[in-house]
Amino acid sequence: MPDPVFPHRHLLGIEGLSPAEINHLLDRSDHYVALNRAAEKTTDSLRGRTIVNLFFENSTRTRTSFELAAKRHGAHVINMQVESSSVAKGETLIDTAVTLNAMHPDVLVVRHPDSGAVKLLADKVNCGVVNGGDGSHEHPTQALLDALTIRRRKGKLNGLLVAICGDVLHSRVARSNFLLLLTMGARVRIIAPRTLIPSQVDRMGVEVFTDMAAGLKDVDIVMMLRVQNERMRGSYIPSVREYFHFFGLDRAKLAQAKPDALIMHPGPMNRGTEIDSDVADDVERSVIREQVELGVAVRMAILEILALNNVAAPARKAAL
Ligand code: NCD
Repeated sequence: MPDPVFPHRHLLGIEGLSPAEINHLLDRSDHYVALNRAAEKTTDSLRGRTIVNLFFENSTRTRTSFELAAKRHGAHVINMQVESSSVAKGETLIDTAVTLNAMHPDVLVVRHPDSGAVKLLADKVNCGVVNGGDGSHEHPTQALLDALTIRRRKGKLNGLLVAICGDVLHSRVARSNFLLLLTMGARVRIIAPRTLIPSQVDRMGVEVFTDMAAGLKDVDIVMMLRVQNERMRGSYIPSVREYFHFFGLDRAKLAQAKPDALIMHPGPMNRGTEIDSDVADDVERSVIREQVELGVAVRMAILEILALNNVAAPARKAAL
């Protein structure tokens, strides 16, 4: 039986998910937070299943988090780190998908530097696919773990005022977060230098600020983004020093937010570029480590649901 609330075979993005589906994924994830804090952390719900982590981009925390999630369910995990050659990316991707598909994995977790590449791959395989981040498009499990962190701390998402600050232009984390937060009834502000604001911003339903003090005023959540130097062709910021001065989160800028505002960052952090260590490590306000912790629970929920949905899929595609 597919999951009655989330009957999908893949999780490719937050786009198109309903509030009921998002709540369901968060509720299932909540269930695994307690298990992860217990001494005995395993279930056997994916025993005998194979999860493949297929990463065309470097990753430490996301890959480890998926690996741990799969292992805690008793699944076999294979990690494949593929260097993507800029010349024959499309071809490499499809070839790899076909090869892996022949080995009958149950779920593929895929990260790729190109937006849309994970969807392309999902169309070629007959197992479940989770988008572990595609270019600057989506990173759905990050948005879900961010939402879980907020919901557990604030008791809700609806009505909260969330500021997403920094390199919005290159950030799949920001995009998946806008989609999720707006779907769940939160208000979203983006705060960034003009050069790092996406051109389609007017159609996103977010408020835009280019000044940290104004944008952070009275927010409940301050979500910082990494400056993604590897995605910048050309110069988007004048210098690290100047960026930190205007857009880096420090104690003085944080003072504009609500006194109980939470500080978040998807990691890895560039300390001294987008965030000061003083606030990043503030145990009262920063939930950055909790985000990492809850990421495992979110991935346990997703892998379990997709593995079960794919067994139930009536018409599995013929082998490629
Ligand atoms: C994010 C990513 O890769 O998109 N990190 C992550 O998943 N832990 C954010 C980033 O790289 O800045």
